[in-house]
Amino acid sequence: MVVANRLPVDDSVAPDGACEWRRSPGGLVSALHPLLQQHTPATWVGWAGGTGPAPMLADVDGVRMHTVPLAGDDVRDHYEGFANATLWPLYHDAVEQPVYHRRWWEAYQRINQRFAEAAAEAAEPGAVVWVQDYHLQLVPGLLRAIRPDLRIGFFMHVPFPPPELFMQLPRRAELLLGMLGADLVGFQRPQAAHNFAQLATKVLGLAATDRRIAVDDRVVRIGAFPVSIDMAEMEALATRPDVVTRAARIRRDLGDPQHMLLSVDRMDYTKGIEQRLKAYSELLATGHVKVRDTVMVQVAVPSRERVEQYQILRERVEREVGRINGEFGRVGEPAIHYLTQPFDRAELAALYRATDIMAVTPLRDGMNLVAKEYIAARVDNAGALLLSEFAGAAAEFPEAFLVNPHDLEGLKLTLMHALQAIPADLTARMTAMREQLRVNDIQAWARSYLTALDQSGNLVHRLTIT
Ligand code: ADP
Ligand code: F6P
Repeated sequence: MVVANRLPVDDSVAPDGACEWRRSPGGLVSALHPLLQQHTPATWVGWAGGTGPAPMLADVDGVRMHTVPLAGDDVRDHYEGFANATLWPLYHDAVEQPVYHRRWWEAYQRINQRFAEAAAEAAEPGAVVWVQDYHLQLVPGLLRAIRPDLRIGFFMHVPFPPPELFMQLPRRAELLLGMLGADLVGFQRPQAAHNFAQLATKVLGLAATDRRIAVDDRVVRIGAFPVSIDMAEMEALATRPDVVTRAARIRRDLGDPQHMLLSVDRMDYTKGIEQRLKAYSELLATGHVKVRDTVMVQVAVPSRERVEQYQILRERVEREVGRINGEFGRVGEPAIHYLTQPFDRAELAALYRATDIMAVTPLRDGMNLVAKEYIAARVDNAGALLLSEFAGAAAEFPEAFLVNPHDLEGLKLTLMHALQAIPADLTARMTAMREQLRVNDIQAWARSYLTALDQSGNLVHRLTIT
């Protein structure tokens, strides 16, 4: 059983006002959904995206949907408030100021309790329950109190901050204790596990190493398990004849430029969209990049739209795209093609295959699965990946064009380097990145996490994870 804030489907409003079910945005669903659908029967406990009573949902690809209802004030205070205006900015190096409100904490406790009760109700005796991410940090502890028979895992998809930042949290002890209700607490990077161990000692006085923490009469294991993607799925898409044709069509529609540059992000201030636009605009201004030769496509799907920092970001990005197009575009030749629509997987695969340079420049990111999707889609071993040192993925791909997105001059230089790289260099880099990804795909992630969760090996065997 997976317990995550969101179900893999999201209740969106269709253009005619009707309710429409779409794949949920974000990396968590991209990682877990393909995994679960191969290992049915499985249950996913989560929120369906709307407010009000829980809708009855049919199974999705054989996975049972167990909906947790959220009312308007739950969404406001738990999801938009404590999760995305307190924890999210704090865990991402406080690149935006975290906001603290006592009523948000009350909502966080209430909603975590609701998720724990829903999981307790739906779990078979002795089941394995895998709780996901920063929205639900209290669930492992609450669930263990109701159902001590369960084996409980917790995985944090986002960075886990150093003590200097985490210590800001008014309810830091409760958050740590909640996570320690799990048998295994997983992070993306070893540094995050180290931060957690240090905090367990500093805040709770527990004996901790970077692998184990003693809590009462239990030992909680901790460790790094870098999340990944279903490489085979993306490769299959990227080789489909209609996708290959579509990729060629995209380039034609863009005016057959010499270089196509692509970015695909949720509209989030952690993704470094503004820094990227600034670098690109300066390269246009100095003539290092010319609109006719080079085309930039920025896909930025709106996210967390009622949170103030996200509204401000969207306005700033749209103003800047407008300014750049006004200043450097020509009739029929914009400098930046800016798209805010969600795309299906085949269209994303076509975009990845069409593009020469994929720019992934977050200021901080737990992993960044877009970078991995791009590598998976390049079955032709071509294309360049410009990748921020502050994305978890950077540790796995030293062959990418690594950048510090805070260093504008460095960003411009590295982008030019990627634009001017010779095909043989690009092929060597991409081949190495694809080998790394093939060995460390989503199956490998699940296998290593679940083996650590159930050291007997029975679980991995039962789920036939290859
Ligand atoms: P995060 O989890 O912060 O959103 P990731 O890069 O890890 O960041 O994951 C983003 C996921 O969302 C990827 O699987 C990507 O393909 C998907 N995605 C991003 N933009 C779109 C879009 N416009 N349409 C469809 N899927 C998108
Ligand atoms: O990766 C962090 C995360 O919050 C995931 O939980 C989720 O997949 C993604 O970002 C999208 O965010 P949201 O669920 O707020 O739309």
